Amino acid sequence: MVTTILNKDVMSAIRDRRSMYALSKSSPISDQEIQNIISEIVQHTPSAFNSQSTRIVLLLRQHHDKLWNIAKEVLQSVQPEEQYRATLDRLNGFEQGYGTVLFFEDQSVIEGLQEKFPKVQDRFPVWSEQTNGMHQLAVWVALEAHGLGASLQHYNPYIDERVKQEWSLPEHWRLVAQMPFGAPTAPPREKVYQSVEERFKVFK
Ligand SMILES: Cc1cc2nc3c(=O)[nH]c(=O)nc-3n(C[C@H](O)[C@H](O)[C@H](O)COP(=O)(O)O)c2cc1C
Repeated sequence: MVTTILNKDVMSAIRDRRSMYALSKSSPISDQEIQNIISEIVQHTPSAFNSQSTRIVLLLRQHHDKLWNIAKEVLQSVQPEEQYRATLDRLNGFEQGYGTVLFFEDQSVIEGLQEKFPKVQDRFPVWSEQTNGMHQLAVWVALEAHGLGASLQHYNPYIDERVKQEWSLPEHWRLVAQMPFGAPTAPPREKVYQSVEERFKVFK
């Protein structure tokens, strides 16, 4: 597979990754490069029991716009008017982006593992979420490394059925998160950091 050369080292990309909400409909890298990066992440990211339960959908151009229009329609129908006005501002912001990555977990894989390993069956849903989170962070950091800003959104479960219908996705794919991305047009919000010393202990 053709891989893209990272333009940042791993630690810089981890450090610089932020929730970027102000995005434009442009990308410093080609669609093919975005596709290659996500392919590599799908191939190489670890998963519980090597389940490979994560599924990813990349929406670009009119597909990206369609997603955020679906979100608008659905949320307008479930939220009170005042709440929806604030939501609409956020959704318009995401629509301003270049694309969206959708993260799913394949429930048929999880159920298969639960049947195979009944003693730890209650752990699989947790490991599935953790596996999905690993993919989310890998994509988020890789996009940052290539000059693309992103944020992590959760309009599931409201949009799930419409999303599956629109892109003819399997019923057993459960939507976990949405990651709108694009070239950033403003710096990230200020972030408060808790002390690392309280969160990280070393014994040596
Ligand atoms: C599991 C998880 C769920 C999140 N859900 C949302 C979300 O639904 N909407 C949102 O705008 N940000 C969401 N975020 C982003 C966090 O709010 C953000 O990462 C955090 O405030 C730190 O800011 P930073 O991403 O700029 O470092 C989520 C992050 C994580 C790890």
